[in-house]
Amino acid sequence: MEVPPPKSLQQPLYVPNKTLMGPGPSNYSQRVLDALSNPVLGHLHPECLQIMDEIKAGLKYAFQTTNEATMCVSGSGHAGMEMALCNLIEDGDVVLLGPTGVWGHRAAEMARRYGADIRYVEARFGRSLKMDDLEFAFEGHNPQIFFIAQGDSSTGILQTHIKEIGELCRKFDCLLIVDTVASLGGTEFLMDAWKVDVAYTGSQKVLGAPPGITPISFNQRAIQHVLKRKSKVKVYYFDVMLIGQYWNCFNKPRIYHHTVSSTLLYGLREALAQLCAIGLENVIHRHQECAWRLQDGIEEIGLEMFVSDENDRLPTVNTIKVPPGVDWRKVAEYAMRKYNLEISGGLGPTVEQVFRIGLMGENATIEKVDLVLNILKEAIQSTQLNKNDKSKI
Ligand code: GLV
Repeated sequence: MEVPPPKSLQQPLYVPNKTLMGPGPSNYSQRVLDALSNPVLGHLHPECLQIMDEIKAGLKYAFQTTNEATMCVSGSGHAGMEMALCNLIEDGDVVLLGPTGVWGHRAAEMARRYGADIRYVEARFGRSLKMDDLEFAFEGHNPQIFFIAQGDSSTGILQTHIKEIGELCRKFDCLLIVDTVASLGGTEFLMDAWKVDVAYTGSQKVLGAPPGITPISFNQRAIQHVLKRKSKVKVYYFDVMLIGQYWNCFNKPRIYHHTVSSTLLYGLREALAQLCAIGLENVIHRHQECAWRLQDGIEEIGLEMFVSDENDRLPTVNTIKVPPGVDWRKVAEYAMRKYNLEISGGLGPTVEQVFRIGLMGENATIEKVDLVLNILKEAIQSTQLNKNDKSKI
């Protein structure tokens, strides 16, 4: 053999214990962590299929839906976005997107690849979309599909009025896709009551499960739309009719579609079991209380939230303006070096402008909020002091 085994793999695995308070993933609970060390199961073994059924039941609760087509796609949150879009879009369909940060633009990039005619309705920078603007855009574009993120993790904006958007979509005979990757479990989301046709979420955020397995739900209206397509869904891997049959959603014998990771299923199953045990309302309330405490603390240390309207603030991913003269990278590095704590910088339209602090799942506790506030304050002061010292030299 000409290629020797790498030296690095002769070393033991090293994984530091970090507190993940960026935009995700968040830390696992001990119960989830323990679940991940169970023996692997085959993807069609009856015990694995039973765990999938239990996950489906838990997801219906989390999304507040009775949709039979509730399942997971193997892949990160991006896979949920791809799956939602590629099942609904056919060439030439008008897809209207309402970006409030990077995710609406990412969805547009995907939708374009599936042949959509892309249109935008833009919110004012740092704000959610208002119903007047949406109604105007619907009249002008008459879209077949509308996409919105309930929570955009790049800006920390919460899109309110999803219920009204659901009604607007019905009025225009339009399908509504809602990205709840950063929001589900951290703020109210009622898929059926709000007439959302397709929704997906991130396993690794509020739910506190491993990334790589993405919950997604299609209502009957969306499934009928897929069944009436003139062309095949462009990506075999994301075809809802195939994945749904594997997940036993259509009352047909299960098929082999792909090899799901049983290990990821265990983690998600346990995360959902914890959500059910604590109760969705309690979990949402806890996230909101933590976000309010963080916002108060941010003001007390003389910083400012990026999203000015309190109603537009996503409780799970909080964006804080980087004060003039402060280097956010140095602050984040300080927090990581000294405390193994992740504070993140901005993304997309907020790059270099904000800190992002995630309060999700295990990290949505008052103790963690106080910890991150203390460390943020210390890190800013310390990096400022160092700068001043150096400028004296
Ligand atoms: C990921 O979701 C991010 O916002 O960075």
